[in-house]
Amino acid sequence: MKRVLLFIATFALVASVSAQNVKGQKAALNSADKVYSLPGKPFMHKLVTFAGDEVAGVENLPKGLALMTDRPGYKYIYGKAPAAGEYKYTVTLNGGRKVDVGFTVSKDLAQPTPFMGVLTWNAFQSHISSDIIKAIADGFDTFGLKEAGYDHMCIDDEWAKHDRSADGRLQWGPKFQDYEGLVRYVHGKGLKIGTYSDAGSYTCSGAQPGSYGYEDVDAEDFVKWDFDLLKYDFCNAIGGDTPEDAEKAYTAMGTALDKAMTKAGKKPSDFKLYMCEWGGRQPWLWAANTGATCWRCTADTRDYWDDPAYRGGVKQVLDVMKKIWAYQGVNRWNDADMLIVGLHGTGYPSNAGGAGHKPGLNYEESLTNFGLWCMFASPLTLSNNITNLDGKPNDLTGKTVVNKDYATDLAIITNKEVIALDQDPLGQAGEPICDTKDYIVMQKDMADGHPALSVTNLSDLGRNIRVKLGDLTALKAGKTYKMRDLWNHCYLTTGKKVNKYTTNDEFVIWVPAHATYLYRFY
Ligand code: GLA
Repeated sequence: MKRVLLFIATFALVASVSAQNVKGQKAALNSADKVYSLPGKPFMHKLVTFAGDEVAGVENLPKGLALMTDRPGYKYIYGKAPAAGEYKYTVTLNGGRKVDVGFTVSKDLAQPTPFMGVLTWNAFQSHISSDIIKAIADGFDTFGLKEAGYDHMCIDDEWAKHDRSADGRLQWGPKFQDYEGLVRYVHGKGLKIGTYSDAGSYTCSGAQPGSYGYEDVDAEDFVKWDFDLLKYDFCNAIGGDTPEDAEKAYTAMGTALDKAMTKAGKKPSDFKLYMCEWGGRQPWLWAANTGATCWRCTADTRDYWDDPAYRGGVKQVLDVMKKIWAYQGVNRWNDADMLIVGLHGTGYPSNAGGAGHKPGLNYEESLTNFGLWCMFASPLTLSNNITNLDGKPNDLTGKTVVNKDYATDLAIITNKEVIALDQDPLGQAGEPICDTKDYIVMQKDMADGHPALSVTNLSDLGRNIRVKLGDLTALKAGKTYKMRDLWNHCYLTTGKKVNKYTTNDEFVIWVPAHATYLYRFY
């Protein structure tokens, strides 16, 4: 990487991004108004406002937290979270409008960091059975995924029979006869197990009934069967499909799960409700009220860089996620949907779309898929067949596939320094500091005060991207930093000497087409 001393006048400022409005918004803040923390941990809440509004002050901040005013673009609350309890602080906007922020501090949060695991849908679709789920669970160990932090084995649609039993219960499909043995097996591997249902009459595939009107019985069964997570879809909604209807439908399941867990003598926070409403009703505004601790914000991801038809390409997901970064936080995760890296065009639904292109991400696009999802602090759900990460022929998904890129795939999805961005306990998402048609640069606050930087080339040709460190408001003026390359696990050097940087420096970084480079400042 080459250092340059040119002044670049065209660099976009934070404010130009944070002022973006969310269509149809009803909130007074353009960031979370219900926040969470573990007791005594570093806590950050960015008070991003809509254009024209500004934070004038905050009342009733718990001891240990302060309103910080050192960043252009927004003010933020920062400090050490207090002891467990329910708190409320009030943000006053210019003009006198007040916004109450609910602040839950508890050691029993369902999702202090975004969950990591595997979802069966893209690679396996209907090709699931007890044996296949067990084989996938084995893959967590065999390929070091568990060691890297993946610990949720999530069964997606098509596990249940098409109809309920005479007494109104969901029934496991014929390929899941020994479901009790299956759950025991997955738990025995030190993994959690997730299931799937829908807040309407039928699931999205139409293969199994939804839980609408059956929330209590289904929650009771999910808990009795010893599941740890429910992905809860929103197809075939019969209770209406406005944001208010969705909030009601998800709250019905959230409440039913809490009740069922309590009745079974378990902690409600040991169960995760994963909302899958696809983002159309802006769940980041209201989903935390329902009992869910993560929520899909995007259309179903597809195995393409660019997918204008279904809006599921890496580019389209970025378009959504880059606008809602300030809603991200501990125990309230905006989800960017399943990772695509490793599928290489072998999935089922993930091949739809793509505007005539062959499905499959190339190496650079895979770096962006994984790297950006970690910058977003999205839950990390692999959707490739993780049992073929040895390059051997494998027909578990119903088609014979050899993953010749297994080594690079594994290196990407188990890169610990990159995963650490996602799993950071401060829970902040990457915040665009320069967003153009051809590239996007983001900074990410980290709990230990060593911020991250991503540089993504969105254009179809390799290009130079200029980064002015003075625009990274997470860096401190006057401080000297080393810069660490997170894909290659090394500090940037000149010869053998580690480079030193300050906020007066700027660079030109050459980034291949569609790639993302990731750094941290130490
Ligand atoms: C929807 C969801 C997907 C998947 C399918 C299953 O499309 O968004 O993630 O669960 O349903 O049918």
